Amino acid sequence: MSVRSAGWKTGLAILLGAVPALAFAATADAATTLGQAAAAQGIYFGTASAGSHFGESAYTTVLDREFTSVTPENEMKWETTEPSRGSFNFGPGDSVVSRAQANDQQVRGHTLVWHSQLPSWVSNGGFNAATLTTVMKDHIANVAGHYKGKVAHWDVVNEAFEDNGTRRQTVFQTTIGDGYIAEAFKAARAADPNAKLYYNDYNIEGVNSKSTAVYNMVKSFKEQGIPIDGVGMQGHLIVGQLPSDIRQNIQRFADLGVDVALTEVDIRMQLPADSGKLNQQATDYRNVTQACLAVSRCVGITVWGVTDKYSWVPDVFSGQGAALLYDDNYNPKPAYNATLAALGGSSTPTPTPTPTPTPTETPIPAGACSATYKTVNEWPGGFQAEVTVRNNGSSTQSKWSVTWTFPNDQKITQLWNGVYTQSGSSVTVKNESYNGTLSGGASTTFGFTGSSSGGNGAPSIMSCTAI
Ligand code: G3I
Repeated sequence: MSVRSAGWKTGLAILLGAVPALAFAATADAATTLGQAAAAQGIYFGTASAGSHFGESAYTTVLDREFTSVTPENEMKWETTEPSRGSFNFGPGDSVVSRAQANDQQVRGHTLVWHSQLPSWVSNGGFNAATLTTVMKDHIANVAGHYKGKVAHWDVVNEAFEDNGTRRQTVFQTTIGDGYIAEAFKAARAADPNAKLYYNDYNIEGVNSKSTAVYNMVKSFKEQGIPIDGVGMQGHLIVGQLPSDIRQNIQRFADLGVDVALTEVDIRMQLPADSGKLNQQATDYRNVTQACLAVSRCVGITVWGVTDKYSWVPDVFSGQGAALLYDDNYNPKPAYNATLAALGGSSTPTPTPTPTPTPTETPIPAGACSATYKTVNEWPGGFQAEVTVRNNGSSTQSKWSVTWTFPNDQKITQLWNGVYTQSGSSVTVKNESYNGTLSGGASTTFGFTGSSSGGNGAPSIMSCTAI
């Protein structure tokens, strides 16, 4: 049994002891994490990870538990690894790699040649073709050489095409010409013969001008014997707007004799999130996962971050976000459950009618659960609020229920991360299947939007019960 599967079984035993009224029996092989479930399907499930968050235990708990592959989000990029010519800095990358190794996770190296996060000594160096080729090959030899044997897959060249299928006019393209990509792959193979070498790009998930240009390049590389092993489709997608032909596109690359990976998946939405968007996002994640599983050469899926809290999306797409599988508070979203289910896993053990065990532990004491109400936004006729449910005790609780009475005529219109009923001004919200379990000291949140015409005061009493 792996360390990870031992972990969930131990957790289940604690739950059984603490809440004897609930009889759970997990099926022997039920995978309860993304990584386990993916492994059962023969693929990996990874995430981008940033060393700057390693001090946050909620972050590392999810990172270490759920994923079997890690891509350093920024730590292996040229501006970090070779900030001045011939001077290499592997500290940040090494820290991501050692954490991954300690947790039995493989590493996707990202990225050796890219026009962005490229230091100015390269982009504005004024080198001629021969010198820039030497600069590029030296960089690859040193970085891929340093990580030799530690990186399973390298994104050798990143984002070299425009959406219309022409070459992006980077310093490498304009100085060296079309041949720079092949030179980069040859240099990477020489530096680390066992790493799988990938071309990686965005907007190539469906069949379109850009993916066809990449397809033609890969075909020609295979014909010429240029060493390429795979194509990374980044997968920066928009809720409700997935290309309909992702599976067919993956298949046509696979038919060229290369592997395919989804390397940077996130599916963004206009904020604020609501249950409709979150459910559509769940459908989208399920479809992307199924598209990969349908093609045997699709070897893995990586999401571009552990939590919405640190996603790059809101920094670049104003007003958009909530693109990942865990929300800002590390609660798994509907998309998490949909992805896990698509991989054949399950986040909740299957309840069975086995005899109820004799109680051995005292129930959660009264007062161990608390609920805090916060209005997060208001506008004429409406509002958005958030409730934090906290387990103040030391035993794990597996279900919670929060009730309150609105002081005015507020009416909930949409609620997420909970199941609600409202009768007049009285509201009851119970946990969803995925956020009922709170260990001692842990909390979770649910949110909602509502309408009101007579004011929007917060409830004075929030009551919370838990078992
Ligand atoms: O480290 C500095 C910090 O010192 C400074 O105070 C701060 C001020 O803005 O900036 C920090 O650097 C930021 C860096 O991320 C590290 O957090 C940069 O501004 C920011 O631009 C950079 O963004 C990264 C982006 O690539 C750069 O293009 C994102 O984190 C990263 O997620 C994103 O990842 C890319 C993939 O590599 C390639 N595919 C697209 C994907 C999304 O853009």
